[in-house]
Amino acid sequence: MLNFGSIIICPQNEGVFGRIFMRTLQWDHQKNELVMIDQRLLPGEFKLVNCKNHAEVASAISEMVVRGAPAIGVAAAFGIALAAINSKTGDLEALKNELRDASRTLQSSRPTAVNLAWALKRLMEKYDTFSGSADNLRGFLIAEACRMAEEDVEINRRMAEHGARLIDDGDTIIHHCNTGALAAVDWGTALGVIRMAHEQGKNVHVLVDETRPRLQGARLTAWELQQYGIPYEIITDNMAGYFLRSGQVKKVFFGADRITANGDVANKIGTYMLSLAAFDNQVPAYTTAPISTIDLSLASGEQIPIEERSPSEVLDISYQGQQVTPTGAHARNPAFDVTPHRLITGIITEKGVIYPPYIQNLASTLQK
Ligand code: MRU
Repeated sequence: MLNFGSIIICPQNEGVFGRIFMRTLQWDHQKNELVMIDQRLLPGEFKLVNCKNHAEVASAISEMVVRGAPAIGVAAAFGIALAAINSKTGDLEALKNELRDASRTLQSSRPTAVNLAWALKRLMEKYDTFSGSADNLRGFLIAEACRMAEEDVEINRRMAEHGARLIDDGDTIIHHCNTGALAAVDWGTALGVIRMAHEQGKNVHVLVDETRPRLQGARLTAWELQQYGIPYEIITDNMAGYFLRSGQVKKVFFGADRITANGDVANKIGTYMLSLAAFDNQVPAYTTAPISTIDLSLASGEQIPIEERSPSEVLDISYQGQQVTPTGAHARNPAFDVTPHRLITGIITEKGVIYPPYIQNLASTLQK
């Protein structure tokens, strides 16, 4: 049994004796390696991946071994710690240059979630002004990355507490993508809110958008909800409008990869259509995100870079054992879309719930 962290993850194929206590990301202090749950394989297989250097972390992020905005931010921070440890130089300025190179490599691994850039910038500000020895800086960066991981858990817990107040006993909620413990170090964003409401004793029922093309909802959110004992049913993404229109849904919850100064929200592809359907049926749609997801440097959502991933993620799918698409078919695969702020009822953060007008209230909340 691994006894690393606070969340309990029970692999389906290992039963009750296979209970594993582990966070999505964990620093191995003995080996100086970053250990992460391989999210590509869940729920079928529970496997850990060890990253020994920053290039391995960058490729784990781009291949989505680790995914979710807060999780990739913290993973990138550990990537910088690994770059420092693996550097052989004793010269402080040379080490800083190597860290800047590593930062560029990590930054290019995924473009949309601003948490990645936020984490790298936070560390860069620290090492740029660091004046001890190169070895001191190595120790400092490991400690700082561990601190960021702990902060992430605490921030998510606070978001969950604020957000849980919005959930009423008996609510049926549509949830998009995976925003749970797997998308952060622990707890997660929108799913953390739902988990908190459940732990407070409220009866909640979750309709889980399967979230094509990579099925983070059907694979990861359903798996997490099972661990927490929260009742759920998986729906295909195109069923959400039906359930909203027929009055069966009280709230819609999702996360965010980047929120601009006016409150526009970039999140997993499909969030925009879901929010439109919620708005048309007067069902509140909440996004949950840490302050580190808010990017006041961008005025509105059109400026957010949208990652376009390989068409194979859309095309390589089978139905009843048969490949669905014709050989040689073409596809498009934008991984995120932007939901305009007018469709967002509230933004749940660790500092409380922010309501419109976002242009004023986001800026004032960040200043607090
Ligand atoms: O492509 P992914 O799986 O990294 O996308 C994740 C999402 O879009 C989440 O909803 C988002 O990161 C915010 S919640 C952690």
